[in-house]
Amino acid sequence: MKYIDEVDLKGKTVFIRVDFNVPLDRNRNITDDTRIRAVLPTINYCLEANAKVILASHLGRPRGQRNEQDSLTPVARRLAYRLHKKVKFAPDCIGAEVDKLKKKMKGGDVLLLENLRFHPEEEKNDPEFAKELMKGIDIYVDDAFAVAHRAHASVEAVTHFAPACVAGFLMRDEVLYFHKSMEEPARPLVAIIGGAKISGKLTALINLLKHVDKMIVGGAMANTFFKAMGYEVGKSLVDDSLVDAAKDLMSTALAKNIKFYLPVDCVVADRLERQAETKIVPVQEVPLDWVIVDIGPATVTLFGEVLQNAKTIIWNGPMGAFEYDAFGRGTMAMVHKVAESYALTIVGGGDTDVAVHKAGEFQKFSYVSTGGGAFLELMEGKKLPGISALEAWAKRNHHD
Ligand code: 3PG
Repeated sequence: MKYIDEVDLKGKTVFIRVDFNVPLDRNRNITDDTRIRAVLPTINYCLEANAKVILASHLGRPRGQRNEQDSLTPVARRLAYRLHKKVKFAPDCIGAEVDKLKKKMKGGDVLLLENLRFHPEEEKNDPEFAKELMKGIDIYVDDAFAVAHRAHASVEAVTHFAPACVAGFLMRDEVLYFHKSMEEPARPLVAIIGGAKISGKLTALINLLKHVDKMIVGGAMANTFFKAMGYEVGKSLVDDSLVDAAKDLMSTALAKNIKFYLPVDCVVADRLERQAETKIVPVQEVPLDWVIVDIGPATVTLFGEVLQNAKTIIWNGPMGAFEYDAFGRGTMAMVHKVAESYALTIVGGGDTDVAVHKAGEFQKFSYVSTGGGAFLELMEGKKLPGISALEAWAKRNHHD
Protein backbone atom coordinates (compact mmCIF):
# COMPACT_ATOMS: atom_id res chain seq x y z
CA MET A 1 0.00 0.00 0.00
CA LYS A 2 1.00 3.62 -0.34
CA TYR A 3 1.61 5.73 2.77
CA ILE A 4 0.71 9.29 3.58
CA ASP A 5 4.31 10.52 3.47
CA GLU A 6 4.61 9.38 -0.16
CA VAL A 7 2.11 11.93 -1.51
CA ASP A 8 2.13 15.69 -1.84
CA LEU A 9 -0.50 17.10 0.51
CA LYS A 10 0.21 20.77 0.01
CA GLY A 11 -3.06 22.69 -0.16
CA LYS A 12 -4.99 19.48 -0.94
CA THR A 13 -8.43 18.50 0.38
CA VAL A 14 -7.78 15.40 2.44
CA PHE A 15 -10.45 13.01 3.74
CA ILE A 16 -9.17 11.02 6.71
CA ARG A 17 -11.21 7.96 7.76
CA VAL A 18 -10.55 7.68 11.48
CA ASP A 19 -12.01 5.42 14.18
CA PHE A 20 -13.43 7.76 16.80
CA ASN A 21 -15.63 4.99 18.19
CA VAL A 22 -14.62 5.94 21.74
CA PRO A 23 -16.23 4.80 24.99
CA LEU A 24 -18.72 7.26 26.51
CA ASP A 25 -20.31 7.27 29.96
CA ARG A 26 -24.00 7.82 30.68
CA ASN A 27 -23.58 11.60 30.40
CA ARG A 28 -21.80 11.22 27.08
CA ASN A 29 -18.38 12.10 28.48
CA ILE A 30 -15.50 10.38 26.76
CA THR A 31 -13.95 7.93 29.23
CA ASP A 32 -10.89 7.08 27.12
CA ASP A 33 -9.65 9.15 24.17
CA THR A 34 -6.79 6.87 23.11
CA ARG A 35 -8.30 6.49 19.64
CA ILE A 36 -8.41 10.28 19.21
CA ARG A 37 -4.83 10.76 20.37
CA ALA A 38 -3.67 7.90 18.14
CA VAL A 39 -4.51 9.77 14.92
CA LEU A 40 -3.14 13.18 15.92
CA PRO A 41 0.20 12.57 14.13
CA THR A 42 -1.64 12.00 10.84
CA ILE A 43 -3.93 15.01 11.30
CA ASN A 44 -1.05 17.30 12.31
CA TYR A 45 1.04 16.09 9.38
CA CYS A 46 -1.75 17.13 6.99
CA LEU A 47 -2.20 20.47 8.76
CA GLU A 48 1.52 21.19 8.51
CA ALA A 49 1.15 20.79 4.75
CA ASN A 50 -1.65 23.36 4.87
CA ALA A 51 -4.15 20.75 3.70
CA LYS A 52 -7.90 21.07 4.25
CA VAL A 53 -8.64 18.22 6.64
CA ILE A 54 -12.00 16.42 6.61
CA LEU A 55 -12.42 13.72 9.24
CA ALA A 56 -15.03 10.96 9.14
CA SER A 57 -15.88 8.24 11.63
CA HIS A 58 -18.61 6.00 12.96
CA LEU A 59 -19.66 5.90 16.61
CA GLY A 60 -21.59 3.02 18.11
CA ARG A 61 -24.08 1.00 16.10
CA PRO A 62 -26.98 3.33 15.21
CA ARG A 63 -28.09 0.95 12.43
CA GLY A 64 -28.65 3.56 9.76
CA GLN A 65 -30.76 5.85 11.97
CA ARG A 66 -29.83 9.30 13.20
CA ASN A 67 -29.91 9.54 17.00
CA GLU A 68 -28.44 12.00 19.48
CA GLN A 69 -26.86 9.26 21.61
CA ASP A 70 -24.48 8.37 18.81
CA SER A 71 -23.64 11.88 17.62
CA LEU A 72 -19.95 12.70 17.35
CA THR A 73 -20.45 16.05 19.15
CA PRO A 74 -18.38 15.07 22.24
CA VAL A 75 -15.61 13.90 19.92
CA ALA A 76 -15.54 17.26 18.11
CA ARG A 77 -14.97 19.01 21.45
CA ARG A 78 -12.25 16.62 22.60
CA LEU A 79 -10.53 16.75 19.24
CA ALA A 80 -10.40 20.57 19.32
CA TYR A 81 -8.87 20.34 22.79
CA ARG A 82 -6.26 17.80 21.67
CA LEU A 83 -5.40 19.68 18.46
CA HIS A 84 -5.37 23.11 20.14
CA LYS A 85 -7.44 24.44 17.30
CA LYS A 86 -10.96 25.03 16.12
CA VAL A 87 -12.80 22.02 14.74
CA LYS A 88 -15.86 22.71 12.62
CA PHE A 89 -18.55 20.08 13.13
CA ALA A 90 -20.81 19.20 10.19
CA PRO A 91 -24.42 18.17 10.88
CA ASP A 92 -24.12 15.21 8.48
CA CYS A 93 -21.48 13.40 6.44
CA ILE A 94 -22.99 14.03 2.98
CA GLY A 95 -25.51 16.46 1.46
CA ALA A 96 -25.87 20.11 0.46
CA GLU A 97 -24.94 21.52 3.87
CA VAL A 98 -21.74 19.46 3.97
CA ASP A 99 -20.87 20.48 0.39
CA LYS A 100 -21.18 24.11 1.43
CA LEU A 101 -18.93 23.59 4.45
CA LYS A 102 -16.36 21.78 2.30
CA LYS A 103 -16.32 24.65 -0.23
CA LYS A 104 -15.76 27.23 2.50
CA MET A 105 -12.68 25.45 3.87
CA LYS A 106 -9.23 27.01 3.74
CA GLY A 107 -5.84 25.37 4.10
CA GLY A 108 -5.29 24.32 7.74
CA ASP A 109 -9.02 24.01 8.52
CA VAL A 110 -10.45 20.92 10.20
CA LEU A 111 -13.98 19.68 9.53
CA LEU A 112 -15.40 16.70 11.42
CA LEU A 113 -18.34 15.00 9.73
CA GLU A 114 -21.28 13.54 11.68
CA ASN A 115 -21.53 9.76 12.29
CA LEU A 116 -21.20 7.83 9.02
CA ARG A 117 -23.49 5.08 10.31
CA PHE A 118 -26.47 7.45 10.45
CA HIS A 119 -26.77 6.37 6.80
CA PRO A 120 -27.58 2.68 6.15
CA GLU A 121 -25.51 2.92 2.96
CA GLU A 122 -22.32 3.07 5.01
CA GLU A 123 -22.57 -0.50 6.28
CA LYS A 124 -23.87 -1.68 2.89
CA ASN A 125 -20.65 -0.50 1.22
CA ASP A 126 -22.84 1.51 -1.13
CA PRO A 127 -20.92 2.98 -4.11
CA GLU A 128 -23.23 6.01 -4.55
CA PHE A 129 -22.79 6.95 -0.90
CA ALA A 130 -19.02 6.47 -1.23
CA LYS A 131 -19.00 8.72 -4.31
CA GLU A 132 -20.81 11.42 -2.31
CA LEU A 133 -18.25 11.13 0.50
CA MET A 134 -15.43 11.58 -1.99
CA LYS A 135 -16.95 14.68 -3.64
CA GLY A 136 -14.26 17.35 -3.87
CA ILE A 137 -11.63 15.12 -2.22
CA ASP A 138 -8.06 14.98 -3.56
CA ILE A 139 -6.63 12.37 -1.21
CA TYR A 140 -8.28 9.63 0.88
CA VAL A 141 -6.29 8.66 3.96
CA ASP A 142 -7.27 5.55 5.88
CA ASP A 143 -6.11 5.78 9.48
CA ALA A 144 -8.93 3.69 10.93
CA PHE A 145 -7.27 0.36 11.64
CA ALA A 146 -9.90 -0.53 14.25
CA VAL A 147 -12.60 -0.67 11.58
CA ALA A 148 -10.45 -2.17 8.80
CA HIS A 149 -12.26 -5.51 9.22
CA ARG A 150 -15.53 -3.95 8.01
CA ALA A 151 -16.12 -3.66 4.26
CA HIS A 152 -18.05 -0.42 4.72
CA ALA A 153 -18.41 2.43 2.24
CA SER A 154 -15.98 4.79 3.96
CA VAL A 155 -13.42 1.99 4.24
CA GLU A 156 -13.75 0.03 1.00
CA ALA A 157 -16.04 1.59 -1.65
CA VAL A 158 -14.43 5.04 -1.36
CA THR A 159 -11.15 3.64 -2.66
CA HIS A 160 -12.83 3.28 -6.07
CA PHE A 161 -13.68 6.98 -6.25
CA ALA A 162 -10.83 8.86 -4.56
CA PRO A 163 -8.08 10.19 -6.84
CA ALA A 164 -5.44 8.87 -4.37
CA CYS A 165 -5.68 6.42 -1.47
CA VAL A 166 -3.03 6.10 1.21
CA ALA A 167 -2.61 4.73 4.73
CA GLY A 168 -2.05 7.12 7.63
CA PHE A 169 0.65 6.77 10.28
CA LEU A 170 -1.54 4.82 12.73
CA MET A 171 -2.57 2.32 10.07
CA ARG A 172 1.07 1.97 9.06
CA ASP A 173 2.20 1.26 12.65
CA GLU A 174 -0.61 -1.21 13.29
CA VAL A 175 0.19 -3.19 10.16
CA LEU A 176 3.96 -3.08 10.60
CA TYR A 177 3.96 -4.10 14.27
CA PHE A 178 1.58 -6.94 13.60
CA HIS A 179 3.72 -8.12 10.71
CA LYS A 180 6.85 -7.91 12.86
CA SER A 181 5.26 -10.00 15.59
CA MET A 182 3.64 -12.69 13.46
CA GLU A 183 5.39 -12.94 10.11
CA GLU A 184 9.00 -12.18 10.97
CA PRO A 185 9.18 -12.56 14.74
CA ALA A 186 12.29 -12.74 16.85
CA ARG A 187 11.89 -16.14 18.52
CA PRO A 188 10.70 -17.55 20.82
CA LEU A 189 7.31 -16.08 19.94
CA VAL A 190 4.79 -16.48 22.76
CA ALA A 191 1.05 -15.88 22.37
CA ILE A 192 -1.05 -15.16 25.44
CA ILE A 193 -4.73 -15.63 24.75
CA GLY A 194 -7.44 -14.97 27.28
CA GLY A 195 -10.97 -13.68 27.47
CA ALA A 196 -14.33 -15.17 28.22
CA LYS A 197 -15.39 -17.24 25.25
CA ILE A 198 -13.34 -19.79 23.36
CA SER A 199 -15.88 -19.65 20.50
CA GLY A 200 -14.82 -16.11 19.53
CA LYS A 201 -11.13 -17.00 19.52
CA LEU A 202 -10.95 -20.57 18.27
CA THR A 203 -10.00 -19.57 14.71
CA ALA A 204 -7.30 -17.28 16.10
CA LEU A 205 -5.95 -20.07 18.33
CA ILE A 206 -5.78 -22.47 15.39
CA ASN A 207 -4.06 -19.92 13.17
CA LEU A 208 -1.60 -18.94 15.90
CA LEU A 209 -0.38 -22.53 16.04
CA LYS A 210 1.15 -21.90 12.59
CA HIS A 211 3.31 -19.14 14.00
CA VAL A 212 4.09 -19.41 17.72
CA ASP A 213 6.66 -21.34 19.73
CA LYS A 214 4.65 -21.22 22.95
CA MET A 215 1.01 -20.60 23.72
CA ILE A 216 -0.51 -19.52 27.02
CA VAL A 217 -4.27 -19.78 27.48
CA GLY A 218 -5.97 -18.07 30.41
CA GLY A 219 -9.26 -16.40 31.27
CA ALA A 220 -12.62 -18.15 31.22
CA MET A 221 -11.80 -19.72 27.87
CA ALA A 222 -9.31 -21.97 29.68
CA ASN A 223 -12.29 -23.67 31.37
CA THR A 224 -13.20 -25.49 28.16
CA PHE A 225 -9.65 -26.88 28.10
CA PHE A 226 -9.99 -27.98 31.75
CA LYS A 227 -13.21 -29.76 30.83
CA ALA A 228 -11.37 -31.41 27.93
CA MET A 229 -8.85 -32.71 30.46
CA GLY A 230 -11.65 -34.10 32.61
CA TYR A 231 -11.45 -31.54 35.44
CA GLU A 232 -14.43 -30.27 37.39
CA VAL A 233 -15.01 -26.56 36.70
CA GLY A 234 -17.98 -25.94 39.01
CA LYS A 235 -20.32 -23.24 37.73
CA SER A 236 -17.71 -21.65 35.49
CA LEU A 237 -18.42 -20.69 31.91
CA VAL A 238 -17.73 -23.63 29.59
CA ASP A 239 -18.45 -24.08 25.91
CA ASP A 240 -19.48 -27.76 25.84
CA SER A 241 -19.72 -27.81 22.07
CA LEU A 242 -16.02 -26.94 21.81
CA VAL A 243 -14.54 -29.44 24.24
CA ASP A 244 -13.41 -31.65 21.34
CA ALA A 245 -11.99 -28.65 19.51
CA ALA A 246 -9.99 -27.82 22.66
CA LYS A 247 -8.67 -31.41 22.75
CA ASP A 248 -7.66 -31.19 19.07
CA LEU A 249 -5.90 -27.92 19.66
CA MET A 250 -3.82 -29.39 22.48
CA SER A 251 -2.94 -32.44 20.35
CA THR A 252 -1.90 -30.21 17.43
CA ALA A 253 0.30 -28.15 19.74
CA LEU A 254 1.90 -31.32 21.10
CA ALA A 255 2.45 -32.76 17.61
CA LYS A 256 4.09 -29.52 16.47
CA ASN A 257 6.23 -29.29 19.59
CA ILE A 258 4.59 -26.01 20.54
CA LYS A 259 4.70 -25.57 24.30
CA PHE A 260 1.14 -25.17 25.53
CA TYR A 261 0.32 -23.75 28.96
CA LEU A 262 -2.87 -23.59 30.97
CA PRO A 263 -3.35 -22.17 34.48
CA VAL A 264 -2.34 -24.52 37.29
CA ASP A 265 -4.30 -22.74 39.99
CA CYS A 266 -7.17 -20.29 40.01
CA VAL A 267 -9.18 -17.88 42.11
CA VAL A 268 -12.71 -19.19 42.64
CA ALA A 269 -15.69 -17.20 43.95
CA ASP A 270 -18.99 -18.37 45.38
CA ARG A 271 -20.69 -15.94 42.97
CA LEU A 272 -19.68 -13.42 40.30
CA GLU A 273 -20.10 -10.36 42.52
CA ARG A 274 -17.82 -7.81 44.14
CA GLN A 275 -18.66 -9.01 47.66
CA ALA A 276 -18.21 -12.68 46.84
CA GLU A 277 -16.25 -15.05 49.02
CA THR A 278 -13.08 -16.16 47.23
CA LYS A 279 -10.30 -18.69 47.62
CA ILE A 280 -7.32 -19.96 45.68
CA VAL A 281 -7.35 -23.59 44.61
CA PRO A 282 -5.40 -25.87 42.26
CA VAL A 283 -7.34 -26.33 39.01
CA GLN A 284 -7.96 -29.94 40.01
CA GLU A 285 -9.93 -28.77 43.06
CA VAL A 286 -12.57 -26.32 41.84
CA PRO A 287 -15.58 -26.68 44.20
CA LEU A 288 -18.84 -27.75 42.58
CA ASP A 289 -20.86 -24.57 43.25
CA TRP A 290 -18.08 -22.04 42.67
CA VAL A 291 -16.94 -20.04 39.64
CA ILE A 292 -13.39 -19.60 38.34
CA VAL A 293 -12.79 -15.83 38.18
CA ASP A 294 -9.03 -15.39 37.79
CA ILE A 295 -5.70 -17.17 37.48
CA GLY A 296 -3.93 -17.90 40.75
CA PRO A 297 -0.48 -16.89 42.04
CA ALA A 298 1.23 -20.17 41.10
CA THR A 299 0.01 -19.63 37.52
CA VAL A 300 1.40 -16.09 37.49
CA THR A 301 4.79 -17.53 38.50
CA LEU A 302 4.53 -20.27 35.86
CA PHE A 303 3.49 -17.89 33.06
CA GLY A 304 6.25 -15.49 34.15
CA GLU A 305 8.80 -18.29 33.69
CA VAL A 306 7.37 -19.07 30.26
CA LEU A 307 7.97 -15.44 29.26
CA GLN A 308 11.55 -15.37 30.59
CA ASN A 309 13.25 -16.16 27.26
CA ALA A 310 10.55 -14.70 24.99
CA LYS A 311 11.74 -12.39 22.22
CA THR A 312 8.23 -11.58 20.96
CA ILE A 313 4.97 -11.62 22.91
CA ILE A 314 1.55 -11.13 21.37
CA TRP A 315 -1.30 -10.82 23.86
CA ASN A 316 -5.06 -10.71 23.46
CA GLY A 317 -7.63 -11.20 26.22
CA PRO A 318 -7.59 -10.85 30.02
CA MET A 319 -6.80 -13.67 32.47
CA GLY A 320 -9.97 -13.26 34.51
CA ALA A 321 -13.00 -11.08 35.25
CA PHE A 322 -10.73 -8.07 35.80
CA GLU A 323 -13.63 -5.61 35.52
CA TYR A 324 -14.10 -6.53 39.21
CA ASP A 325 -11.00 -5.31 41.07
CA ALA A 326 -11.10 -8.36 43.33
CA PHE A 327 -10.75 -10.67 40.33
CA GLY A 328 -8.19 -8.60 38.45
CA ARG A 329 -4.97 -9.54 40.23
CA GLY A 330 -3.96 -12.22 37.76
CA THR A 331 -4.46 -9.98 34.73
CA MET A 332 -2.65 -7.07 36.41
CA ALA A 333 0.25 -9.35 37.40
CA MET A 334 0.52 -10.56 33.81
CA VAL A 335 0.56 -6.96 32.54
CA HIS A 336 3.58 -6.33 34.78
CA LYS A 337 5.29 -9.58 33.71
CA VAL A 338 4.90 -8.73 30.01
CA ALA A 339 5.92 -5.10 30.58
CA GLU A 340 9.10 -6.23 32.36
CA SER A 341 10.09 -8.71 29.66
CA TYR A 342 12.84 -7.96 27.15
CA ALA A 343 10.60 -8.99 24.28
CA LEU A 344 8.85 -7.02 21.57
CA THR A 345 5.40 -6.81 23.13
CA ILE A 346 2.20 -6.36 21.14
CA VAL A 347 -1.20 -6.10 22.76
CA GLY A 348 -4.59 -6.23 21.06
CA GLY A 349 -7.26 -3.63 21.70
CA GLY A 350 -10.58 -4.30 23.35
CA ASP A 351 -10.23 -5.49 26.95
CA THR A 352 -6.49 -6.09 27.04
CA ASP A 353 -5.52 -2.49 26.34
CA VAL A 354 -7.87 -1.41 29.15
CA ALA A 355 -5.94 -3.72 31.50
CA VAL A 356 -2.62 -2.28 30.32
CA HIS A 357 -3.86 1.27 30.99
CA LYS A 358 -5.33 0.26 34.34
CA ALA A 359 -1.98 -1.20 35.42
CA GLY A 360 -0.23 2.04 34.33
CA GLU A 361 2.17 0.15 32.08
CA PHE A 362 1.18 1.50 28.65
CA GLN A 363 4.58 3.13 28.04
CA LYS A 364 6.44 -0.11 28.63
CA PHE A 365 4.73 -1.99 25.80
CA SER A 366 6.21 -1.95 22.31
CA TYR A 367 2.78 -1.54 20.76
CA VAL A 368 -0.79 -1.43 22.00
CA SER A 369 -3.23 -1.80 19.12
CA THR A 370 -6.32 0.41 18.80
CA GLY A 371 -8.15 -2.50 17.17
CA GLY A 372 -10.30 -5.05 18.98
CA GLY A 373 -12.18 -6.99 16.29
CA ALA A 374 -9.69 -5.94 13.60
CA PHE A 375 -6.72 -7.18 15.65
CA LEU A 376 -8.48 -10.48 16.31
CA GLU A 377 -9.19 -10.98 12.61
CA LEU A 378 -5.51 -10.40 11.83
CA MET A 379 -4.68 -13.06 14.43
CA GLU A 380 -7.12 -15.35 12.65
CA GLY A 381 -5.00 -14.93 9.52
CA LYS A 382 -7.72 -13.02 7.67
CA LYS A 383 -7.14 -10.30 5.12
CA LEU A 384 -8.87 -7.12 6.29
CA PRO A 385 -11.02 -5.35 3.65
CA GLY A 386 -9.63 -1.95 4.66
CA ILE A 387 -6.07 -3.09 4.10
CA SER A 388 -6.87 -5.01 0.91
CA ALA A 389 -8.62 -1.93 -0.52
CA LEU A 390 -5.52 0.22 0.00
CA GLU A 391 -3.31 -2.47 -1.50
CA ALA A 392 -5.62 -2.87 -4.48
CA TRP A 393 -5.63 0.88 -5.09
CA ALA A 394 -1.83 0.97 -4.99
CA LYS A 395 -1.69 -1.95 -7.43
CA ARG A 396 -4.12 -0.28 -9.85
CA ASN A 397 -2.14 2.94 -9.71
CA HIS A 398 1.38 1.62 -9.81
CA HIS A 399 3.31 3.54 -12.46
CA ASP A 400 7.06 3.06 -12.44
C1 3PG B 1 -14.43 -1.22 17.26
O1 3PG B 1 -14.71 -0.53 18.24
O2 3PG B 1 -13.96 -2.38 17.35
C2 3PG B 1 -14.56 -0.61 15.90
O3 3PG B 1 -14.84 0.75 15.98
C3 3PG B 1 -15.57 -1.33 15.05
O4 3PG B 1 -16.85 -1.18 15.58
P1 3PG B 1 -18.01 -2.20 15.16
O5 3PG B 1 -17.67 -3.53 15.82
O6 3PG B 1 -19.27 -1.59 15.66
O7 3PG B 1 -17.98 -2.34 13.67
